[in-house]
Amino acid sequence: MDPMNLTVALTGASGAIFARELLRALEADPRVARVHFIASENSLRVLAEELGVSGRNNLLERLLDATAIKIHQHTDADIGASIASGSYPSSAMIILPCSMGTLAAIANGLANSLIARAADVTLKERRPLLLCVRETPFNRIHLRNMTLAAEAGAVIFPLIPAFYLQPVDSTEMARQFACRVLAHIGLPQPGAYVWKPED
Ligand SMILES: Cc1cc2nc3c(=O)[nH]c(=O)nc-3n(C[C@H](O)[C@H](O)[C@H](O)COP(=O)(O)O)c2cc1C
Repeated sequence: MDPMNLTVALTGASGAIFARELLRALEADPRVARVHFIASENSLRVLAEELGVSGRNNLLERLLDATAIKIHQHTDADIGASIASGSYPSSAMIILPCSMGTLAAIANGLANSLIARAADVTLKERRPLLLCVRETPFNRIHLRNMTLAAEAGAVIFPLIPAFYLQPVDSTEMARQFACRVLAHIGLPQPGAYVWKPED
């Protein structure tokens, strides 16, 4: 398989630990050549609350606990970045977690930030776009926007972890969810839980 060139965005919904496990898996995956990473301004507040990671400096290094080799960070204001154009060969885009605000921007084609524009481009180029939405409960606007995005080609991949695999802690729960996300775009992970019912 050709090496993958992926776009990953982190927005201001709860679930920063899931993004951390996704980024760690991508950095370690030899099938991935490059990851374009964008953290929205509001995601930084949630990162600080949930993981104690404050500010944008060395954000990737602090999330990975290592130097990022293949993950390259863009600012959400940089609408001139490579991934803002359909001519750039990104294989797929994952937004994890995806806030209701970012979902609304994508569902309504606003393209007013790099995250929203890259998602818009992913849809128009008919490439996989996974929206790991997180909110509870959903109002009717959220539900309509999910339908709009799904009708435009996005996969609504809600941030709902599985419990039947009996994760020992929240890191393992997040890691297994990241495995499900990556399997969906053709990157099955070593150590991913597979349901094996009794014969
Ligand atoms: C601690 C914290 C948790 C939040 N959790 C959620 C959430 O789960 N879902 C959501 O849609 N918004 C959540 N928000 C609100 C968003 O951060 C807010 O709507 C923001 O404008 C989203 O901006 P963004 O999509 O550009 O990142 C949360 C905010 C904070 C501070």
